Amino acid sequence: MKLIIATRNEYKLQEIKAIFDFQGLEVLSAFDFPEIPDVVEDGDTLEANAIKKAVTLAKSTGCWALADDSGLEVHALGGAPGVYSARYAGEPCSYSNNNDKLLRELADESDRTAQFRTVIALSDPEGNSQTLEGVCAGTIIKELHGTNGFGYDPLFVPEGYIETFAELDSEVKNRISHRARALQKVQAFWSELLK
Ligand code: IMP
Repeated sequence: MKLIIATRNEYKLQEIKAIFDFQGLEVLSAFDFPEIPDVVEDGDTLEANAIKKAVTLAKSTGCWALADDSGLEVHALGGAPGVYSARYAGEPCSYSNNNDKLLRELADESDRTAQFRTVIALSDPEGNSQTLEGVCAGTIIKELHGTNGFGYDPLFVPEGYIETFAELDSEVKNRISHRARALQKVQAFWSELLK
């Protein structure tokens, strides 16, 4: 059986490949199908984008496909930036512009709780899909700390820690992150499917 991962991000691909180390399963990625264009991520939820990416790839390759979409959800901002996390400060924008905007929006807020959320969609070759999610709760601090990771990592302190994701070792982040938690669920789902 073949499973195609809907990403052209080598880092994500290696992380996912390590999880899908099942006998009889060949893991490929969007890199192996350069003729298939990337889908436009125009959904208004993480679920909609993940499903669109997985279903499009599954139907056009005739294989199972997996896609993910992640975002930062801040409670005092009604869940923003959420699905718009990558382009929160407008397009084109940098991680630094996004972090600056987040700090401005939260300047007068006492509730700084937030969560990162990943939604992973799996689609069979006919386009029947299902989603699984992983969440990592934490708080947004008032200034940037640390240089590891990417995106909002320098502002996010996960629950149970005093360092930001950008100060923690990548090994720790990769164990407790929203993406890791979603992937653990997908791994359990997939091993049931292969039984
Ligand atoms: P993607 O769906 O994984 O590409 O994530 C979309 C956007 O959410 C990224 O561009 C980041 O702004 C933010 N994001 C997702 N995961 C993380 C993370 O682990 N740390 C920091 N920012 C993240």
